[in-house]
Amino acid sequence: MADEKKSKILTTDVGRPVGDNQNSLTVGPRGPIVFDDYLLFEKMAHFNRERIPERVVHAKGSGAYGTFTCTNPDMKKYTTAKLFDTVGKKTPTLLRFSTVGGEKGSADTERDPRGFALKFYTEEGNWDLVGNNTPVFFIRDPLKFGDFIHTQKRDPETNLKSPRMMWDFWSLSPESLHQVTILFSDRGTPKGFRHMNGYGSHTFSLINANNELFYVKYHFKTKQGIDNFTAEEANHMKSVDMDYSQSDLFHSIEKGDFPKWTVQIQIMPEAEAATYHINPFDLTKVWPHGDYPVIEIGELELNRNPKNYFAEIEQSAFEPRNVVPGMGFSPDRMLQARLISYPDAHRYRLGVNYESLPVNQPQCPFATYHRDGSMVYGDNGGNSPNYEPNSFGGPKEDPKYKERPTTYANATVARYDHRELDGDYYTQPGNLFRLLKPDAQQRLCSNIAAGLGQVEQRIQDLQINHFYKCDPKYGEGVTKAIGRKIEEIVKKEELVNA
Ligand code: NDP
Ligand code: HEM
Repeated sequence: MADEKKSKILTTDVGRPVGDNQNSLTVGPRGPIVFDDYLLFEKMAHFNRERIPERVVHAKGSGAYGTFTCTNPDMKKYTTAKLFDTVGKKTPTLLRFSTVGGEKGSADTERDPRGFALKFYTEEGNWDLVGNNTPVFFIRDPLKFGDFIHTQKRDPETNLKSPRMMWDFWSLSPESLHQVTILFSDRGTPKGFRHMNGYGSHTFSLINANNELFYVKYHFKTKQGIDNFTAEEANHMKSVDMDYSQSDLFHSIEKGDFPKWTVQIQIMPEAEAATYHINPFDLTKVWPHGDYPVIEIGELELNRNPKNYFAEIEQSAFEPRNVVPGMGFSPDRMLQARLISYPDAHRYRLGVNYESLPVNQPQCPFATYHRDGSMVYGDNGGNSPNYEPNSFGGPKEDPKYKERPTTYANATVARYDHRELDGDYYTQPGNLFRLLKPDAQQRLCSNIAAGLGQVEQRIQDLQINHFYKCDPKYGEGVTKAIGRKIEEIVKKEELVNA
């Protein structure tokens, strides 16, 4: 409904004052309702249409507005993006956190990655950085996204969450090991949204005034400190407060305790990408900090709750394709699929004019020739021309904003087997396992065992062999936690060589 011009008297949708909002219009005090009761029918009809499709993933979420402040005087070395051009410059933002697999009414403390979707309302358009609280992801080819997400949703027969679907898929997709290790570590059950980091996860690019390109990864480090629920606390919280994270975020902002994150980047000059020993565009891998140290660039603070959850958070639409001048994408295939997938999802979920909703509109001047379509919210361009070129002074392109040309070597188009090209699923999850303290390693193994212990032995065997290859202690720890013996699972020669 459009914003009401506030009336003290209750009205219908079209402004007719209402005389009685308590009693339907009936034939006598005990008789039936008559068709003349336009008020009852209007109320029932609107109520019946209150729900819109929930997000197909990340359906349960919380959000707040905030401010990004640039703190780095050297950003011009890397980019012309205006939000970074001056130290102290503030850009308004919206941040929506979420869980991934659960429905809109699911519990906030499920073991799941958390979404970390940011919109920066910059002076040259909206920049959306639609990340997670982990630096990597389960898959590296978007062709597998729908298959993977099916395993995180409900079993088609039982309508239950299914450890069997999950472990079957993961054990057959070892590129998932890195993300699986993070998911089952303590960070898989963060204590609300304020105590976790956010990561842009993909490799993006920055472009400076000399047209030089730098690949970039974004990190948001919580200033509240990392804090997680134990597996037991997270489970318990589901019955105490299903909306723990929503409540924690809303109430801290309400009382003026504004959560903050230090914003950092890792920078890789364009030429280094070709020779770096890891594929820098592989979303299942991080760039080790030892190779590419983090550089602080700013601070993000959340300081304002939305006034209306549905209008401002449910209807918010984040899209990895939204970058601003001075920024670009990268050859990460997951990112490429996401550039197309999100606007498509929004047209279905919110309708073709979703970008005109107040929360999604840019806060800078803007002008397009898009017109019409379902639910036009504004003046639809009034009587200005709806085609281009035109000789009536309509908005025109400006060549200075052309994308930087990209060169690809004379490559052949084919479906290359990513497993043949890079089968090292083990080094980085192994590094992560080795940096965990023994008690955290123990919790990781028992968190994994809670689900893996319920599935067929052949799936357990395949998955434990993967853990073993990350680190023999990892494989042994999980085997012990599910009450089996490592000798039954890992081949003898590997045990000897370990
Ligand atoms: P470093 O020792 O330089 O970095 C270690 C990083 O590990 C820390 O900065 C921290 O990232 C992260 N970390 C610490 N404890 C945990 C935990 N319990 N769960 C998840 N992450 C944790 O080594 P590398 O850069 O070589 O990274 C080693 C491993 O750390 C990687 O294989 C990856 O699994 C993980 N990691 C690496 C990140 C990166 O960008 N290099 C980012 C996050 C995790 P942070 O400060 O971001 O919390
Ligand atoms: C939401 C697709 C990978 C983070 C969504 C939505 C779709 C989608 C369709 C719902 C959008 C909506 O209705 O508003 C995909 C596809 C992926 C992918 C096709 C891979 C090929 C990722 C990755 C991340 C991520 C790698 C993080 C690094 C998010 C977040 C949301 C989301 C945070 C919720 C945004 C919000 O708060 O509104 N994704 N996704 N996704 N995705 Fe992805």
